[in-house]
Amino acid sequence: MSRIPQSFIDELLTRVDVIDIVDSRVKLKKTGKNYSACCPFHNENTPSFTVSPDKQFYYCFGCGASGTALRFVMEFDGLSFPDAVEKLAAQANMQVPKETTSRAEVEREQQHNALFSHMEAAGKFFEQQLRTHPDKDKAVSYLKNRGLSGQAARFFGIGYAPPGWDGLQQTLGKTAQDIKELVSCGMLIEKEDGRTYDRFRDRIMFPIRDARGRYIAFGGRVLTNEKPKYLNSPETPIFHKNRELYGLYEARKIRQKLTRFVIVEGYMDVVALAEFGIHYAVATLGTATSEHHLRRLFKIVPEVIFCFDGDEAGRTAASRAMETVLPVLDDGVQARFLFLPEGEDPDTLVRQEGKDGFEQRLNTSMHLPEFLFDYLKRQVDFDTLDGKARLDKMAAPLIGRIPAGTLRNLMEKQLETLIGTRSAALANLKEHPPEPSRREQVPAPARQEIPAPVYEGDYREDDSGWYEEAELPADGIAPLVRRALSSLVAAPALAQSLILPDADPESEDERLLFEVLKKLQQSPQQNSIGLLIQWTGSPYQDELRTLADTPETGIRPVAGDIQSVLNRIGARIEDQRLAELEAMYSSRTPLSQEQKDEFRELQRRRKLRNRKRTGIYSRS
Ligand code: UTP
Ligand code: MN
Repeated sequence: MSRIPQSFIDELLTRVDVIDIVDSRVKLKKTGKNYSACCPFHNENTPSFTVSPDKQFYYCFGCGASGTALRFVMEFDGLSFPDAVEKLAAQANMQVPKETTSRAEVEREQQHNALFSHMEAAGKFFEQQLRTHPDKDKAVSYLKNRGLSGQAARFFGIGYAPPGWDGLQQTLGKTAQDIKELVSCGMLIEKEDGRTYDRFRDRIMFPIRDARGRYIAFGGRVLTNEKPKYLNSPETPIFHKNRELYGLYEARKIRQKLTRFVIVEGYMDVVALAEFGIHYAVATLGTATSEHHLRRLFKIVPEVIFCFDGDEAGRTAASRAMETVLPVLDDGVQARFLFLPEGEDPDTLVRQEGKDGFEQRLNTSMHLPEFLFDYLKRQVDFDTLDGKARLDKMAAPLIGRIPAGTLRNLMEKQLETLIGTRSAALANLKEHPPEPSRREQVPAPARQEIPAPVYEGDYREDDSGWYEEAELPADGIAPLVRRALSSLVAAPALAQSLILPDADPESEDERLLFEVLKKLQQSPQQNSIGLLIQWTGSPYQDELRTLADTPETGIRPVAGDIQSVLNRIGARIEDQRLAELEAMYSSRTPLSQEQKDEFRELQRRRKLRNRKRTGIYSRS
C-alpha cells in the first residue's frame, strides 16, 4: 500500500474547517465560542458533542469520541483512512500525493481507473437509452408498472440496455484499447474468434456503485418472464461480489442518520423500500451474506436485520446467515431476523403495507438469540430429555463462536435454563477449545463507534450552501463575491483556512475581498469587531461597517463557499491567459519555451477543474 505523507495530512487539516465538515453531516448550533449537537456516535437527547473552531477538534462529553475533521469523516462516513483523506482532499482541491508507490501499483491504479470510467460511461449510456431509445417505452412502462417513480429511478441511476448486439460497443468501444477494457470490466463478451458483443441486451439496468460512488458493476433484469431473470456483471478487477452491497452507497448518499440496515435479497427490494422512505436497505448480489459484508455494515450501524422468505428454504438461509454473523457479534451490535409471509418479498410487502407497516415488522423481528434457540428446537425433539441433550450439543459450538462478552455469557445461561441443567457441551468446549480457524487468529479490528444519526429528509443530491458552481447567477460572479465578502466579515476566523488566488481583482468588491482576506491572514481575528478595529481610518472602514451591520440573511458563512468564489476568480484569470495563448497559437505566433510550458500547465489545470466540476455534479 502506498502511504500518504504526514506533511500532506497536516496541510490538508489546515485547509478544511472541522466546523464545515461536521456541520454538513450533523447540524451544529453555535454555543458561545464552540458549536454543539447531539452526538452522532451515541444515542442521546441533550447535546454533549462539541466542536471547537479554534482547536479544529471535536469532542463528546458523553462517549468520549474525539478527533480532527479527518477522524470525523472516517467515523461518520465509515471510510478507511486513505478514502477519508481522498474525500477531504477533493473538497479542498488538493491532490493526494503518494509515497513509495511502486510501478506495478501505479499501473494497477491506472488500469482500474480506466475501468471505472468505462463503467460510469456505460451507466450514463444506459440512463440515456431509457430516455431516448426507440424502444424506451416498453422499458419505461415496465418500470411504471412495477410502481417505480422517475425520481427513484434517477436516484438509483436505473437505465435501459437496448436490444441488439452492439449498442454499447458502438458507443463506448471507440478504439481497440477501449474494447479490451470493456471486455475486462465485463460489459462486452469476447467470442472465441475474437469478436465481441454486448453482455447486457434489452434489460433494465441497475448500476452497482462502491462506497465512493464509483460504478463497478451492473445487474440487468429482463422485461419479460424469460430466464435468466437477472444477469449480473462477472467478477472483474474492480468488482468482487462478496464484498459489495447494492444500495449501500445510495443509503449514505442521502445523509440520513443511519441506525440500522436491513439486508434484502433483490435490487427491486432495495429500490422499492427507498421509494417508500426506507432508505437503509442493502442487497447482496446474488450471493449469501459474507462475514465481510457484516463487518462492514456493523462499522456503520449497531443493528442489522436480515429478511427471509417465511418458508423452509427461508429458515435454512437464515440459519446460514446466523452462522456467518456469530463471530461478528461483539457486545453492542445486534442481528435480527425478519420472516416474510409466504410469497411476498419486501418489494411487494412495502407496497401493500407502506413504510409504517413494514417498519412495524422490522421493529418486532426476531433477535438472534431467540432465532438460534428456536431454530435448534425445531431440529430436535425438544420435549424429551435426549432431545434436550442434543440441543445442548448443537448449541454449544454456535455460542462458542460469539466473541467473549456479555452476549455470549447470557446465551450460555439461556442454554442452561432451556435444558434445565448444567451444559456438558459448553464445559467440554471450554476444556478443549476447537482449533481457531485462520480467520479468527487475526485480531479483529477495533470496532469503531456507532453513528446513530437524524433523518434529514428525502433525496438531497447536493448539500452545498448558497454557492453553486453549476448555477452562476445571471448577473455573473459579482453577487457571489459580495456574499463571500459578507461571510468573511461575519466570520473572520474562516480566513485561516482560505487560499488567496494568484490573480488580480477585477472589481472593487473583489479587491476588498482580497484585502480583507490578506489582512486577516496576517493578523487573525476571531470576530467582526476585531476586524473593524483593524480597518479604522482606512478608506474601507465604512464599507466594512455596512457589511457587518447588514449581514445577508439566510447565509451561513462557510469556508468552502468563500473558497469556491476565490477559486472561480483564480480560474477566470487563468482562462483569460489561456485564451490569449490559444489565440497566439492558432494565429501561428511562435511561442517561447516558457509560454509553451505555461500553456500546457494552464490546459492541465482547466481540465482538472472541469473534471472536478462534472465529478461533483454527476455523483454528488
Ligand atoms: P428474486 O428472484 O427474488 O428476484 O432474486 P426479485 O429481486 O424479487 O426480482 P423481481 O422482483 O422479480 O424483479 C433476488 C436476487 O437474486 C439475484 C438478483 O440479485 C436478484 O435481485 N438473481 C435472481 C440473480 O442474480 N439472477 C437471477 O436469475 C435471479
Ligand atoms: Mn421481487
